Formats: sequence, structure tokens, C-alpha cells
Amino acid sequence: IASAIAGAMSANAQAKDLTVGFSQIGSESGWRAAETTVSKSEAKRRNVTLKIADAQQKQENQIKAIRSFIAQGVDAVFLAPVVSTGWDSVLKEAKEAKIPVVLLDRDIDPAGKDLYLTAVTSDSVHEGKVAGDWLVKTVGSKPCNVVELQGTVGASVATNRKKGFENGIAGQANIKLVRSQTGDFTRAKGKEVMESFIKAEGGGKSICAVYAHNDDMMVGAIQAMKEAGLKPGKDILTVSIDAVPDIFKAMAAGEANATVELTPNMAGPALDALVAYKAKGTVPPKWIQTESKLYTASDNPKAIYDSKKGLGY
Ligand code: AHR
Repeated sequence: IASAIAGAMSANAQAKDLTVGFSQIGSESGWRAAETTVSKSEAKRRNVTLKIADAQQKQENQIKAIRSFIAQGVDAVFLAPVVSTGWDSVLKEAKEAKIPVVLLDRDIDPAGKDLYLTAVTSDSVHEGKVAGDWLVKTVGSKPCNVVELQGTVGASVATNRKKGFENGIAGQANIKLVRSQTGDFTRAKGKEVMESFIKAEGGGKSICAVYAHNDDMMVGAIQAMKEAGLKPGKDILTVSIDAVPDIFKAMAAGEANATVELTPNMAGPALDALVAYKAKGTVPPKWIQTESKLYTASDNPKAIYDSKKGLGY
């Protein structure tokens, strides 16, 4: 025990001198806001100085922020890349300046693999597959027309969650993806797009399920369904991703059916990997994978809501 305590104390002493610049996407969703809050507390716990730049959903702002972090001589850059392409030049600049880059929650194109130290992300293809598998199991042989609310166009998680879901429902002739459009990971757009889906699908009567790439878009879609006189969670099944408190609130009210959890704590494992790399030269694995757990309305959503509320969401 004494040596474990001594180890933790010396890791903290080394972390104390580190300054990390975090280029965050923005605050498009409850999940994103929680990730920012948790990053601050994880850095504080380790005595790391964390500088956060909010890019307001724009890649150009992220590139500017990374350049400014390089100019300030930070010890590392954390990057949540809004889209997967277009990072080569700026990440080469970071590499030339010997500043390690850690990706948080989204990937960049595989060609950029040598330009970052490690990526802390979920398997976002798997997340979509978990959602698709749940739907297949839930509808059985009943015919089911599905509408999909996609995340930000060009984001790795949007591309992968679509692919994974399509893999999950593949071969099920009774399940058809009839409409798919981006809602940009926001509640407002999720609601707006769902309203247009409802109009286009006979007032929503021909929709059996909604799949949303995040819970915030689903919360917006639930509102749209209710305003159209539909019963989400009953007339229309819902499955989405993130496991934010508000989706458990909707589940407890019988208005949502399933979600796949994405932890907002990406910074904790990223900081541990960075400290070990800086202190001992330990090269982390290229991918630090987070869990993707399915929750349904039968998992005591009220208790989960209570336990999650206040955890940075
Ligand atoms: O990259 C992670 C995704 O980005 C989350 O699922 C979503 O809510 C966020 O905006």
C-alpha cells in the first residue's frame, strides 16, 4: 500500500508541471457539456493545468486553437475532432514542435495515425450495432419502418454509428431504414428534422422506430412526436446513444426505450496515458477504448437518472 501511495504521489508531482491545451468542439449536447466539466475535474485531481478552447462547432477554430497552443508551448494537446478529415497540416506542426496530441471521443482518418499519440474513444461502429441489435430483438418479425437522426456530417461517430446500425439490421427484411438526415447532434435540430419526418410519413403513422446518433437529438424528437399527438416509447420505439440523464427521465416517463452509454470521462484515461508517457516514456496503445453498455426502460431509469444527475451533465 505504501508503495502504491508513493507511486500515486510521484505521478501527481510529475503531472503538476504539465499544461494541456484542449481543443473542444463546443457544447452541442448534454454529453459534450459533461465531457468538458469532467475534463476540468480530472485535470484538477491530477494538478494538471488544462486550457480549454471552445471551437463553437467549427474546424477552423479548432485549427487556430491548436496553433495557439503550439505557440504557447503546451506539454500536450487534447483534440476532440469535429470532423475526421483536414487535420494533417496542423497535427504535423504539433509533431514538429514535439507536442503529443491525444484524440478524445472522435477519430480522424486512418492516414493521420502517426500524427497522434493515442485516441480515447468508444467503438462507435459497435455502438450503432448495439442499437440495431436491440431493435431487431425488440420488433421480432413485425414490419418496422425506421427513421434515423444522424450526427454532424463528416464526424467519425456519425459515419460509424450509421454503419454499425445498418450492420445490426442487415438481413432483416421486416426492418427498413426509410429516412435519414442530420440533426447535427443538437436537440433543436433533432426536433426540427423529426417534425419533417412526421409530416413526410403520414403524420408519423408509418414510423415504427427512431434511431438517433445521440440522446439530445432524441429528446428533441420525443418533443416533436408528442406535439404531433404521437406516443414516443409506445407508438414509436426509440433507441439512441450517450446515456445522458434526460433520456433516463424520458424512459422513466415511458417516452423512450433504449440508449447506449458513452462515458463523458475521456480526459481521465488520456491524462493517465500522458503522465506515464511524459514521466517514464511509456508509449500507450494507439486506441484506449471505452465501454458501450446498453440500457433499456427496464433498468430502473429513475435510479439511473438520480445517480447521473450532477455528474457534470
Ligand atoms: O463524439 C461524441 C458525440 O458528440 C456524442 O455522442 C454527442 O452527444 C456529442 O455531441
